[in-house]
Amino acid sequence: MTKDDQIPFEAALVARTEPIEALLRQLLGDRPLSGEIERPQRLMEAMRHGVLNGGKRLRPFLVMESAALFSADGEAALRVAAALECVHCYSLIHDDLPAMDDDDLRRGQPTVHKAFDEATAILAGDALLALAFDIIADEATMLPAERRAALVLALARAAGAGGMVGGQMLDLEAERIRPDEAGIIRLQAMKTGALIRFACEAGAILAGAAAADRERLAEFGSAIGLAFQLADDLLDLTADAHQMGKATGKDAAAGKATLVALHGANWARDQLQGLVGQAHALLHPYGEDAVLLKQAAKFVAARNS
Ligand code: IPE
Ligand code: IPE
Ligand code: MG
Ligand code: MG
Ligand code: MG
Repeated sequence: MTKDDQIPFEAALVARTEPIEALLRQLLGDRPLSGEIERPQRLMEAMRHGVLNGGKRLRPFLVMESAALFSADGEAALRVAAALECVHCYSLIHDDLPAMDDDDLRRGQPTVHKAFDEATAILAGDALLALAFDIIADEATMLPAERRAALVLALARAAGAGGMVGGQMLDLEAERIRPDEAGIIRLQAMKTGALIRFACEAGAILAGAAAADRERLAEFGSAIGLAFQLADDLLDLTADAHQMGKATGKDAAAGKATLVALHGANWARDQLQGLVGQAHALLHPYGEDAVLLKQAAKFVAARNS
C-alpha cells in the first residue's frame, strides 16, 4: 500500500470529526440536564480534558459511515457516535490510571489523573460511561424507542464484563498467566475489538437493517478491531511517544502478552494484510457504497499514530 492511498481517507476522517467535536462539546457543557441537580465544575473540566483532547475519532467515523451505508438518519448516528466516543474516552482515562497502565501522556497531553488527580479521573470516567447511555436513550436521539433500546443493549454488552472491561481484566492477568495465541486474540477481541465491532454494527441497528447485514457489519468490525490492536501493539514497539502522543515501548517492558511479542513484527505485518483482506471481502456486497469503510480498514492496519 502506498502512502498516497491514505491521504484522501485521512482527510475524510478529519472532515467527519468537526460535527462530532461540536456535539461532544455541547454534551459536556456545565448546564445540568433535566433530572440532574448540578454538574460540578472540576468534574466537568476533567471530563472535557479526557474527551476534547484530540483523538482520531475513528470509532465515531465508523458509526457514521456504517449508518450512511444503510441510509440511517445522520443526526441520530452522530449522537450514537458521540456516545461511543464517551465510552472509549472513559476506557482510556481508566486505562492510564496508576493502578492500570500508569501512563502520564495521552493524545500528547497529560493524562486526566496527572492534570487533575486520581480520584477525579476515576469519577470522570464513571460519569462518561453513564453519559453514553444517557445520550442514546434520550429522545433527542430521534429513533424509534426499540432501536434506542437495541443500541443501549449492544453498547452495554460491548462495554461491560464480557466486552471491553472484561478484556481489560484479562489483559492485566495476562502479565502473570501467559495466554496462548487464542487467548491473546480473545482478550484483544474484548478489550479493543468489542467497541469497534459495536461502532460498525451500530449503523445497521440505527437503520433497522436486516439481521444478515447487522451480522456482516459486526464481523467487519471484529476484523478491523483485531487489526487495530495488532497495529497498536506494533506501534508500541516501533513508534515514539512524540508520534503517538502516548508512551511507547511499554508492552515489552511490562512483559505484556501480545501477538507482536509472541510472533514478531514481520508476522504482525503479514497478519494485518490478511485482516484487511478479510474485512474488504465482508464489504463486497455493498460495492462502491462501502468505499470509505474499506479505506478505514486499510487505515487501521497502516496507521502511524
Ligand atoms: C487507543 O485507541 C486505545 C486502543 C484501543 C489501542 P485510539 O488509537 O483510537 O486512540 P485515540 O482515540 O485516537 O486517542
Ligand atoms: C487499551 O489498550 C484498550 C482500552 C483502553 C480498552 P492499551 O493499553 O494498549 O491502549 P494504549 O496503548 O494505552 O492506548
Ligand atoms: Mg492497557
Ligand atoms: Mg494503555
Ligand atoms: Mg497499547
